[in-house]
Amino acid sequence: MGTKTILVTGGAGYIGSHTVLQLLQEGFSVVVVDNLDNSSEVAVRRVEELAGDAGKNLVFHQADLRDREALNKIFASTRFDAVIHFAGLKAVGESVQKPLSYYDNNLIGTITLLEVMAAHGCKSLVFSSSATVYGWPIQVPCTEEFPLIAANPYGRTKLIIEDICRDIRKASSDWKIMLLRYFNPIGAHPSGHIGEDPHGIPNNLMPYIQQVAVGRRPSLTVFGTDYNTNDGTGVRDYIHVVDLADGHIAALQKLFQDPNIGCEVYNLGTGKGTSVLEMVAAFEKAYGKKIPLVMAARRSGDAEIVYASTMKAERELNWRAKYGIDEMCRDQWNWARKNPWGYGSPESES
Ligand code: NAD
Ligand code: UFG
Repeated sequence: MGTKTILVTGGAGYIGSHTVLQLLQEGFSVVVVDNLDNSSEVAVRRVEELAGDAGKNLVFHQADLRDREALNKIFASTRFDAVIHFAGLKAVGESVQKPLSYYDNNLIGTITLLEVMAAHGCKSLVFSSSATVYGWPIQVPCTEEFPLIAANPYGRTKLIIEDICRDIRKASSDWKIMLLRYFNPIGAHPSGHIGEDPHGIPNNLMPYIQQVAVGRRPSLTVFGTDYNTNDGTGVRDYIHVVDLADGHIAALQKLFQDPNIGCEVYNLGTGKGTSVLEMVAAFEKAYGKKIPLVMAARRSGDAEIVYASTMKAERELNWRAKYGIDEMCRDQWNWARKNPWGYGSPESES
């Protein structure tokens, strides 16, 4: 079996960059397509450096998935064994304000990609879905069979894309598709050279804590202290981004080795719940100082407790997360202190 070549959309982004590094280290050739809407080419260069010799097996194209001509050219020049599709907009609040941008980017981008893949005979796909499709779950842990709901336009794009994938597989049995539902990825590569660098004000807990720690924001607002949890704050399943990247390698291997794959769905989480205050305490341990907190009302649309059942991924992908929240916080802080302005500089702050 020769070297396999993987197209990674959104490979300059947070999860994408960590996955590209792992793919290169595992001996895959990788072509990244990213429009750099929420990322920087510096991340791609750092991945190349971290990969050492294998860095030569990485090619980057700055292109938008909705640009069919650009995509066709890329597929015409390289035969891909599979596509890992990360590219998309992901801010829940913004999706409520600008639903059409989300439908345009995430749906049109994905449909264009699927059409171009089919036209070039590449029908193996790994797609970034999200635990957001469980909404406020009926119970925990969430298993893959739970009812699915869309609580906002972002979540609706994930649900619609999942449905599109199920439909194209039904229509044509040569598609092999892995829908991976991520829980809450945090942390960074242990080198501290790549990590999460969201543009603008962070929406998510960890990037926000990190920006407070490096002095870019004065305090963390804790959204909701009256949930039915041990300390009243919301509970989530945080997963180290390196473990998540590993889950993609496991999914790809399954895709290549199992002839019976149709359209399969897997949770990627740790199966453990951590509250906001527990997360703050774990981060403070790594950081060595206190994070100033402002207690506030619940954020609209937030669920109380969400964590994964990891049984299916363990059983069928032979994968499980290795890292706990202490390692996640250690690596998050290591990335933050080495790169207080992410891949940019104070001048590039928006
Ligand atoms: P990210 O924003 O860091 O990465 C997404 C990348 O896609 C960015 O580099 C962006 O520039 C690129 N992109 C966006 N639209 C594009 C387009 N039309 N054409 C080409 N490139 C485009 O986000 P991430 O955290 O790495 O998330 C990756 C995927 O995982 C997304 O689909 C996201 O919805 C999903 N996901 C993320 C989380 C999370 O908490 N980070 C949780 C569940 C699911
Ligand atoms: N939180 C705060 N303050 C903040 C940010 C978050 O208290 O400044 C709290 C939230 O209320 C929640 C917890 O921290 O209780 C986690 O919030 P995040 O925004 O980090 O994560 P969510 O679980 O709300 O949502 C994220 C992504 C979704 C994705 C979901 C599951 O934003 O897109 O994880 O993967 F669907």
